[in-house]
Amino acid sequence: MDQLDPLEKLQEFLRFPSVSTQPEHAPDLLSCAEWLRELLSGIGLNASVHSTAGSPVVLASTLRDPSKRSVLIYGHYDVQPPDPLDGWTTPPFEPRIAEGRIYARGAADNKGQILAHILGVAETLRENGSLPVNLIFLIEGEEEIGSPNLTDFLREHREELACDLVAISDTAMAPGNKPALTYALRGIAAMELIVRGPARDLHSGLFGGAVANPVTVLARLLSTLHDDKGHVLIPGFYDAVRPLAPWEREAAADLEKAAGGDAAIRELAGVPELFGEEGFSTIERIGARPTAEVNGIGGGYQGAGTKTVLPKEAFAKLTFRLVADQDPAVILTAAEEYLRKQTPPGVLLEVITGHSGAAYQNDPNSPDGLASRKALKGAFGAEPLLLRDGGSIPILATLKEILGVDSHLLGLANPDSRIHSPDENMLIENFLGGIRMNRILLEGLGKR
Ligand code: BES
Ligand code: ZN
Repeated sequence: MDQLDPLEKLQEFLRFPSVSTQPEHAPDLLSCAEWLRELLSGIGLNASVHSTAGSPVVLASTLRDPSKRSVLIYGHYDVQPPDPLDGWTTPPFEPRIAEGRIYARGAADNKGQILAHILGVAETLRENGSLPVNLIFLIEGEEEIGSPNLTDFLREHREELACDLVAISDTAMAPGNKPALTYALRGIAAMELIVRGPARDLHSGLFGGAVANPVTVLARLLSTLHDDKGHVLIPGFYDAVRPLAPWEREAAADLEKAAGGDAAIRELAGVPELFGEEGFSTIERIGARPTAEVNGIGGGYQGAGTKTVLPKEAFAKLTFRLVADQDPAVILTAAEEYLRKQTPPGVLLEVITGHSGAAYQNDPNSPDGLASRKALKGAFGAEPLLLRDGGSIPILATLKEILGVDSHLLGLANPDSRIHSPDENMLIENFLGGIRMNRILLEGLGKR
């Protein structure tokens, strides 16, 4: 096939509003999956789209040569909702190139990153006619909602997906856009709380003082999650946390230095002061410590002006970020028990548990970890830092369990890529560097 223009292809990919959490976008997810299948078969792979109970999974592979190692490259074509829309400089699904970056929802998370791998493979196939490894692309459409259908898919396609290792670019470089190999990601466990009070919204003058207010009850409950220093107060929350090895504390300190310390993180977050659990550096708090976060809260009157109402209910959406060896199910149970114990009479607490995935950690000094580091260095010209990152890719633990292999995380997103935020972007040099990296990576992984 003819040489593909990387930026043209990326812009085509970014125009699909493939938002997995919103049912009205199901057709966009489908057409995005079809677009990928066409691209992958156009470059010479055997590509297929598989329907699931949710968004389809795209698979593509080379013929298996038993004398070669097998590498599975995982990515996702679904994206987060673009909201809030008024935060964007230009519309989220109309890619814009400016100052060496491409702006669009999904630019870095994950379309730019997975496309770099596809284009790397395309180049090698065009030039050499074959790859140094047996290759499988597994590109799903539900990562941003916790991959609810991928576990079953992995089980059903276990043989087709058999491999020696997984390579993933769905993480970020270190602050300062320094290349990094991520060797640990946090897990996640989601929970929604609904506090139900009176049968209907009441007049706050006629009933205030006589009836528990669900919004106040919820606020009090949420305030019991942490002490003033950011330590989580749920009994047993930290019991299974694997302590940091001395080399990890050193790696975190190196990273802190290379990354410009707290000032750089303050700048990225846009806050005047950082906040978090005492006794750990900011880098450690993000990558190596578990947290409890409130992601959303609501209840009562939200319109203009005032309304004297005692609302009938209030809700909050929570996620816990977990580290090895915390068990998401154990954490959700402990949290529910703790919150129930403190719920006063006069209201009902409903707890709905959502998606979850355990934390993931590998050995960055394993032979494949070293080959990954070499590829990052070859493509980006500096020895990669070792990173524990705070985000989650819940399927990693499942890949290990079902396929029995480790995942190596070679992040291409720039730290200021604003993933999940307005004006998400990817540095074009990272995208193009990713194409080079893929070629060095497959070469290195094939050799051992
Ligand atoms: N690509 C991210 C995860 C990530 C980003 C890890 C940067 C490390 C550094 C992924 O798409 C993501 O956002 N995952 C979700 C998972 C959740 C919705 C189940 C997350 O971490 O919130
Ligand atoms: Zn994401």
